[in-house]
Amino acid sequence: MKARDFLDTTDLSPTEFAQILDLAAQLKSGRLRADQALRGRVLTMVFMDPSLRTRTSFEVAMVRHGGHAVVLEPGRSSWALETRRGVVMDGASVEHIAEAARVLGRYADAVALRAFPKGTSWDEERHDRTLRDFAQYCEKPLINLESTRRHPCQGLADALLLRERLGVTQGRRFTLTWGPHPKALPTAVPASAALAAAQLGMQVTIAHPPGFDLDADDISAIERAAQGAGGSLQITHDQSAALNGAEAVYVKSWGAVRCFGRPDDEAALRVPHRGWKFSTALLNRAAPSAFVMHCLPVRRNVEIDEDVLDGPQAAVIDQAENRLHVQRALLLRMLADESALGNEVCS
Ligand code: CP
Repeated sequence: MKARDFLDTTDLSPTEFAQILDLAAQLKSGRLRADQALRGRVLTMVFMDPSLRTRTSFEVAMVRHGGHAVVLEPGRSSWALETRRGVVMDGASVEHIAEAARVLGRYADAVALRAFPKGTSWDEERHDRTLRDFAQYCEKPLINLESTRRHPCQGLADALLLRERLGVTQGRRFTLTWGPHPKALPTAVPASAALAAAQLGMQVTIAHPPGFDLDADDISAIERAAQGAGGSLQITHDQSAALNGAEAVYVKSWGAVRCFGRPDDEAALRVPHRGWKFSTALLNRAAPSAFVMHCLPVRRNVEIDEDVLDGPQAAVIDQAENRLHVQRALLLRMLADESALGNEVCS
């Protein structure tokens, strides 16, 4: 049987979740180096969609520990991949993931995939079939680099930042507030961020305009995680009230899944809510010590005012840095021999 995939932060037990964050903190501080712990190991990353942080931080993570990363961009420098089952492949796609995932698994120690939703039908795409099928075909562990439903590496980085800034996270107030955007963005990041905060036992509030509800299964997963960790979940359409006293504020835009695949209808729902742009006035409703998170890339002065992004309460660069450290920890957990790491990792 192959080693475990990492498709969602809820794939990790509470102990494993905490261990990865502990290990990431050790690596970030330099207390643990493990320079050659991934020597001879290969990670192959398949990017069906673009990236700055995910691609760079994973490549750097492999290099930092003596390993190597291969990056494929299907349809550009490698064959365009077909993901649908049972399709007659007489279009632009040259190779099916049924073969590609198996072949890549033979070459590498782990494979990683980024595959955003295609914007067809939410009823179909909500099952995250491309990610799940790829994981099934691939004989090596698969890492989710952001799929239709989850961005678990971002969730880990968010959790590390929350722990760093707050110390004790249990019962602390985390507000995820919807932001305006010119396009309908996926729900993977907001769902993963709220899940990560819930897994830390925080009091999670999600604020969004009417019609922008996350998938009901995401809400159930966040509620379960919160209950399991002693936290809570509230959902509101009142942005100002949601920000009152918030200790961590996460700004993120997402599209209305009820209009998924109908961009004109979705835009008609989204455009009237430009006033949800996050501003200094809104930040002033939060606790004085509050910090502002965003996964990046961010649309300046559309999602968040530049005064906030350039101000002392913005945590977005530290948050992005944490992608590197949590992924180093994840890769070491997944691929390193315990003997190469020392007692810290085995504890
Ligand atoms: N936050 C994040 O995943 O960034 P990229 O899309 O640049 O990888």
